[in-house]
Amino acid sequence: MIKGRTKDNIRLYAAEDFAHMRAAGAKAAQILDEVAERVQPGVSTAELNDFIETRIAALGAQSATIGYRGYRHASCISINHTVCHGVPSDRRLAKGDILNIDVTVIVDGWYGDSSRMYAAGPPPRRAERLMQVTHDALMLAVREVRPGATFGDVGWAIEKHARHHRMSVVREFCGHGLGREFHLPPNVLHFGSPGTGPELREGMFFTIEPMINLGKPETRILPDGWTAVTRDRSLSAQFEHSVGVTRDGCEVFTLSPGGKYYPANWQPRSR
Ligand code: MF3
Ligand code: CO
Ligand code: CO
Repeated sequence: MIKGRTKDNIRLYAAEDFAHMRAAGAKAAQILDEVAERVQPGVSTAELNDFIETRIAALGAQSATIGYRGYRHASCISINHTVCHGVPSDRRLAKGDILNIDVTVIVDGWYGDSSRMYAAGPPPRRAERLMQVTHDALMLAVREVRPGATFGDVGWAIEKHARHHRMSVVREFCGHGLGREFHLPPNVLHFGSPGTGPELREGMFFTIEPMINLGKPETRILPDGWTAVTRDRSLSAQFEHSVGVTRDGCEVFTLSPGGKYYPANWQPRSR
């Protein structure tokens, strides 16, 4: 039950709604765990997508992306210089490719949205650095999430970390509110200034999903109308979690149930 909305039209959910988001987030995260061992050189992104579609159904969930604004697939798979919204195809992974797999499920009407990076065999050192910096940026942003913080604090945590490592944050795509709909207010920017933007309040649900490039931040969309790539063809990485603001911090709904974190030695910290 929605308890209210802020003046920025951000919905505030009730305590009992967290259980629905937890259930949806866990299924998205489980599928991202399961697909990991299938990411290998020679596998096509359509094959990975077929596996994901099968697992969504087997878990009693629905795909949020099939039929969304004309999109026809159960995942987005974005390889190397693809920033996001890569369309599954018969393209086969090559040794050393890095890729983001983004899955959004609907469970009892509630949305769980998450994405992670994978590599087909050992990636180049610079690709590994990019993935590490992007994951760290996401988790530094998650650490900012608590009542009284602002969305500017969240964005700045990401921007600051990327800048420190001489990498750039994509500005054309952002995180979003979610709940019983896929994309709701606010736009969760992955850059910003501390203390600016709407204030976070208990009961907000949203994603944080930074895209970071090794080169310049600019992107362009391919003629398929979906695939976003870096204009300079530099490598790009993204991680996404769905989170809820709690009384004293936040709950991450899409943590890996199998402990399959990237990087492998990363552990969630409790609050
Ligand atoms: N899952 C993406 C997000 O994080 C949205 C994908 S929409 C699609 O918001 F149509 F491209 F699948
Ligand atoms: Co999202
Ligand atoms: Co997503």
